[in-house]
Amino acid sequence: MSGNTPLSDEIRLTQFAKHGGCAAKIGPDTLSRVLERLPKFSDPSLLVGFETSDDAAVYKVTDDIAVIQTLDFFTPVVDDPYTFGQVAAANALSDVYAMGGEPKIALNIVEFPGELDPDILGEILRGGADKVHEAGAVLVGGHSIQDDVPKYGLAVTGFVHPDKIYKNYGCREGDVLLLTKQIGSGIVNTAVKAQMASEESAREAIRVMTTLNRKAKETARKYSIHACTDVTGFGLLGHCSEMASASGAQIQINVEDVAYMQGAKEYARMGLVPGGAYRNRKHVEPLLDAGDLDEVWLDLLCDPQTSGGLLLAVPEAEAGSILREFAQAEMVTEVSVVGRVEKSGCEKGRICLRK
Ligand code: CO
Ligand code: CO
Repeated sequence: MSGNTPLSDEIRLTQFAKHGGCAAKIGPDTLSRVLERLPKFSDPSLLVGFETSDDAAVYKVTDDIAVIQTLDFFTPVVDDPYTFGQVAAANALSDVYAMGGEPKIALNIVEFPGELDPDILGEILRGGADKVHEAGAVLVGGHSIQDDVPKYGLAVTGFVHPDKIYKNYGCREGDVLLLTKQIGSGIVNTAVKAQMASEESAREAIRVMTTLNRKAKETARKYSIHACTDVTGFGLLGHCSEMASASGAQIQINVEDVAYMQGAKEYARMGLVPGGAYRNRKHVEPLLDAGDLDEVWLDLLCDPQTSGGLLLAVPEAEAGSILREFAQAEMVTEVSVVGRVEKSGCEKGRICLRK
């Protein structure tokens, strides 16, 4: 690296490279402290703003149409530029699905070193464009600047019916919590970087990260979803805790039921855990009752996910049929029942981990 800007010395760049994908996200504690300083915006048409830490903003246009607006970008999480483009785009599109919407328009956001081969950038953008195409949206432009650390992502606009928005709160007692992708991508990617990962694990992580949450959302659409979010940088527990506290719910996670990528548990035992996992854990600790669970479970559950699945709160009576439908949907990722809502209407959220 040439280090020709005073803002990015050698060490920082290495750190950026270490935290690829959603693991590069600014921690939830820091983020909420910073966001507190912003003025509150209100508009009768603003249905979801940033106050509830939801996945995207939603603005009502007519009685039938609301616009979803979101932006996501990050540092490389894999070495292959085309795959990186796919992962970054799938991840950015996911926030529209997490609101129950349909992505329509996408714009590229790019940072790329001037001294690197422009063909690499071409491949990143081609990977992203292919995912936008697969999502049925249109890519209409973007913005690119030179920077020492490559970064790529999308700003996405989507549509949703104003009465059918998925929010990250609203889960109720008895709801079953489903997760539509297996977890462990942060740990597996860390193992890949350390050249400790098996080829199968690396392939599985790429398959999971490049899969759109489109089919998951389309399947969920036929059921009464009480709350939904996508599991990304804050890990399964981090996103669960946001759902729990925003809903005033006590959530039980049955750790052995959570689907994870092959090898992830072994790599976590070897200490191949991204730093973001510890930060996420610290953030959820006040809400957490982990009993005497083995540490390795906490590493897995707090592992920052890149382009993770949808976490859906489904009424118990519909759980059986949605699971059957997921089984028939030929999902390329694993859908698992990760837990349930034990109580709602609590003053504070709470998460209990059980074997
Ligand atoms: Co999200
Ligand atoms: Co996001």
